[in-house]
Amino acid sequence: MAKGFLHLHTTVIFLFVIFFAVKVFLLLAGKNEQLNKLRDKKFIDIVLGVLILLTGGYLFAINVEKPTWLIVKLVVVIALIPLGIVSMKKENKALALVTLVGFLYFIGVSYTKSLTFSKPKIEVKENVDAESQIQNETQSIEEKGKAVFETACTACHGADGKLMAGGAKDITLSKLTVDERIVLITKGKGLMQAFGGSLTEEQIKAVATYTTTLK
Ligand code: HEC
Repeated sequence: MAKGFLHLHTTVIFLFVIFFAVKVFLLLAGKNEQLNKLRDKKFIDIVLGVLILLTGGYLFAINVEKPTWLIVKLVVVIALIPLGIVSMKKENKALALVTLVGFLYFIGVSYTKSLTFSKPKIEVKENVDAESQIQNETQSIEEKGKAVFETACTACHGADGKLMAGGAKDITLSKLTVDERIVLITKGKGLMQAFGGSLTEEQIKAVATYTTTLK
């Protein structure tokens, strides 16, 4: 739902800014005849403007976090819209250009989620975390164990558990119970390092269970 709104919001903004940019171009180029033709199509501005405000308002309302860039964007963009209208009415080239640059700047701000266009490191990470959490919740124990196994264990045991790199044992032949495997994985044994510090209890249990399915 929110994704659909975001999509619509982005699309109407692009159309609106492109439409405005064409008018600014015609104004700067002194092509008044064509410009007047476009300006007569007021309904385009009205429809796009209303859609932008509706979708934007909805997205703003459902967004729990309201970071600074979003507030600044909201305030300035709402101020830019009448500025754009006035600049066209008065055929003020400088004002029209400033408004256009303002719109483009805030497209960049929205895209990077930053007023200075710096990379949105933390937010991206949060998204990834949230995503993998959802994935974790829907994953079965076996899938979870498989994922852990593939990242932490295959170097020595191979994807099928049969590789015996660096003195590792063939897991498919192991007679250990799940509980014994949990202890072994947590504490390590011989050349196999302990995973108690790098994996959670839940992950260890999942991967231990998964190893019993390797045959
Ligand atoms: C650095 C290489 C290495 C990695 C990484 C590694 N192991 Fe091992 N694994 C070994 C070695 C070596 C042994 C044999 C230990 C011994 O008996 O002294 C072993 C033994 C085992 C055994 C016992 C087999 C048996 O019958 O005794 C299990 C189960 C096992 N590993 C599971 C895992 C799991 C699960 C992971 C990933 C979380 C993992 N291992 C990661 C090297 C590794």
